[in-house]
Amino acid sequence: MGGEQTIRRIVDTFYPKVLADPLIGPLFPDGIEEVKEKQFLFLSQFFGGPPLYSERFGHPMMRARHMHVPIGIEEARAWLSCMRQTLEELELPDELREAMMDRLSGPAYHFMNRT
Ligand code: HEM
Repeated sequence: MGGEQTIRRIVDTFYPKVLADPLIGPLFPDGIEEVKEKQFLFLSQFFGGPPLYSERFGHPMMRARHMHVPIGIEEARAWLSCMRQTLEELELPDELREAMMDRLSGPAYHFMNRT
């Protein structure tokens, strides 16, 4: 899917959209650079690259790591929508975009921790 460089571009394009989103933007802490770096490490491993996130932070336990963030269906949809726009903007091939969205949708809805 384009390796490290593509993951960097995804993260750099994604977070400005997330922060600009009225629903989920305010959920993020001030130091977005740290979140971006962690997301880069995580997505690298999530999409089959080296286990960079686990090497530094241990088992991802991503649902647990989102427990302090109020996530309902609207928040999950907003996150996925920012990701969809990002992949479109970067003009990744259609098939790859669909595959990535499929892989991310499960976790996004799974992280929901309130109705
Ligand atoms: C469902 C909607 C989602 C929302 C609203 C959301 C929101 C957040 C927020 C607010 C943080 C920062 C927490 C903090 O530092 O206090 C965070 C961290 C993170 N999120 Fe999400 N997230 C969502 C879905 C996802 C998905 C689907 C993934 C990946 C599959 C993901 C991966 C991460 C990672 C890797 C971090 C950094 C975790 C760490 O601290 O080590 N998030 N998320």
